[in-house]
Amino acid sequence: MQRGQFSSKFGFIMAAAGAAVGLGNIWGFPTQVASNGGAAFVLAYLALAFFLAYPALMAELIVGRSARANAVKALPSLTDSPILKLGGKAVGIAGLITVAVILSFYAIVAGWMFAYALAPMLDLIGLSQYSQWFKDFSVVRNVMFTTLFMIATILIICGGVNAGIERWSKRLMPALVLILLLLIGYMLTLPGAEEGLKAYLVPDFSKLLDPSLLVSALGQAFFSLSLGVGCMLIYGSYMSSSENIVRVGAWVTLIDVGLAFIAGLLIIPAMYVAQHYGVEIFDQSGQLLNGDTLIFSVLPSLFDQMGQVGIIISLAFFLLMSLAALTSSISLLEVPVSYVVESHKMKRPTASWIIGMLITGLSLIIIFNFELLFGLVIAITTRYSQPILGLFFCIYAGLVWHRDKALTEIKKGDQHAEYSIFWRIWPWYVRFVCPVFIVAMFVHAL
Ligand code: PHE
Repeated sequence: MQRGQFSSKFGFIMAAAGAAVGLGNIWGFPTQVASNGGAAFVLAYLALAFFLAYPALMAELIVGRSARANAVKALPSLTDSPILKLGGKAVGIAGLITVAVILSFYAIVAGWMFAYALAPMLDLIGLSQYSQWFKDFSVVRNVMFTTLFMIATILIICGGVNAGIERWSKRLMPALVLILLLLIGYMLTLPGAEEGLKAYLVPDFSKLLDPSLLVSALGQAFFSLSLGVGCMLIYGSYMSSSENIVRVGAWVTLIDVGLAFIAGLLIIPAMYVAQHYGVEIFDQSGQLLNGDTLIFSVLPSLFDQMGQVGIIISLAFFLLMSLAALTSSISLLEVPVSYVVESHKMKRPTASWIIGMLITGLSLIIIFNFELLFGLVIAITTRYSQPILGLFFCIYAGLVWHRDKALTEIKKGDQHAEYSIFWRIWPWYVRFVCPVFIVAMFVHAL
């Protein structure tokens, strides 16, 4: 069977950046900044993203493109040793499970965004009496919108690599950037924004070595770049061999980190603008409010205070969130779907619907046991599974795989790759530095 392939460099970058840029950037990153001492977290995050996450991203992209297969097939193909083959398969399968769980909570949050985007639309057409229902936290609403979001994701994935992932990423990503920039431009003109900018950009260095801050920043960087679950590996496997993979990977990292940083320019100042309007933004212990409260209570109260303009801003904001979520959720669903299609010869649409619905079922379990499961599932997958699996991807790419083979793969898109700075550093870097750092950070945190 013919494998799908992205049609151009732009197509690949939009798809991979679309996978990376998501709720993690626009919701996760700013709220983590708010709960981890502002600018100190920003610094830690930037450093970890470039020095640990980027090399790990390259490991996935290169292995994926060389193997032209999903992670469960690709990792074992890197070695002849039966034990290591088995280990590779186990890592791939652990990635599949993690990705399914991530998508199950991701779809819940994305469903909230959908619902919150619909509410201002109703306000605009004069049906305000119904809009509150979309903003109230009810099981019925959550079930409805999670399912709706999953159906949208499934429909795109049914279309495959070009007609689905690439086409929609190329449409949605530019729209997302435009909405984000317009929102920031507007927000920064409002009173209070300046104080917010200071809180965001002036670091308290004493917080920088706090072990829990570092683990949070590491988890955030791995989550944001979609690492450790085979997502980037499968996207890499759809990249044309003629692309300069090192450069393309750098673009994806820059766009992802850049958009997280820019989203912070919107959210943190928006909080201080909200304070200016009389909205409470600190909790009892003096911490900035974060997590759900920030996005679903502080910001909406701000939009409410702004009158008519607020309705438009609110619509734009939650539309932005929904688009960001969608370009990421498709990459999450693509991981198990590509596995079933390639390894079990199922038709893509059938696989997309079956797996998509199973994951929706998982979401429903979480919705019905929300207090117990929601936070727990997020913590386990993003703080632990992703960095630990990412560690194994690095070990397979750097230590298990023969470095000549990696070089051969990179050289397909850049004849002089051998002499590049990247090649002087990356092979030993993924082999030793990344694994040691990731382990050290966990030990430090414990
Ligand atoms: N990177 C996405 C985000 O920031 C989430 C994601 C994680 C997507 C893992 C795919 C795989 O929202």
